[in-house]
Amino acid sequence: MVIGGFMEKENEVYLSGSILDVKPIEVHSKIVEIQDLLDYIHIDVMDGLFVPEKTDGINMFKNSLKFENKPLDVHLMVDDPLSVISNYDGADIITFHVENIINDKTMTIDMDKFNEISKTIKGMGAKVGVALKPNTTESLLRMVMPKVDLILVMTVEPGYGGQKLIQHTLNKVENVRKMGYKGLVEVDGGITIENVEEAVKRGANMIVAGTALFKAYNLREAAMALKG
Ligand code: DX5
Ligand code: ZN
Repeated sequence: MVIGGFMEKENEVYLSGSILDVKPIEVHSKIVEIQDLLDYIHIDVMDGLFVPEKTDGINMFKNSLKFENKPLDVHLMVDDPLSVISNYDGADIITFHVENIINDKTMTIDMDKFNEISKTIKGMGAKVGVALKPNTTESLLRMVMPKVDLILVMTVEPGYGGQKLIQHTLNKVENVRKMGYKGLVEVDGGITIENVEEAVKRGANMIVAGTALFKAYNLREAAMALKG
């Protein structure tokens, strides 16, 4: 099931609001306030293994499903994506980390594992995304690029909101475009009103914002500035 029948347009920059650090009681009113400016709701799923923190991804997801016209962008930061994917039926995009599917011997993506996860996500009617941690090389993605709808470049180490963007990660965004990738390139972590323009110039067309959006003094102004 795909919510909202959302389709991407060329040259458009999408804003995905990360509700990780928003108090559950405030999520609804904040989403309503920027309803017309927000393209996706970004749900961070953490298992306490792949990253030190744990989040109640299922509850965040279920509560966000109530905002029926907002597509949900699910970011899985877990050791075993296959074991949790079915919890996110109704998501528009489900993104998993390539670090989970690297073959230790060849140091390349295990295509059997990739295909299995990708098939499961597609079977639920969602788009397939792959994510890279700041120190994972984008060259690994060459084999899967034609098969994914989105590449998520982590611009901070995954695990927490409110960190500072790691500048060298933007080279990855540029390199992914140089490799010919035309789909969605999402930047996640430490995106602010000050650095968003550079991220977009380097090739990002989907912006995740947590702190810079939901902790802003004026939420609507922040959303407008982040969309550019
Ligand atoms: C971090 C998460 C991010 C985070 C972004 O591991 O994946 O989505 O919530 O928050 P900010 O924008 O505050 O860095
Ligand atoms: Zn995220």
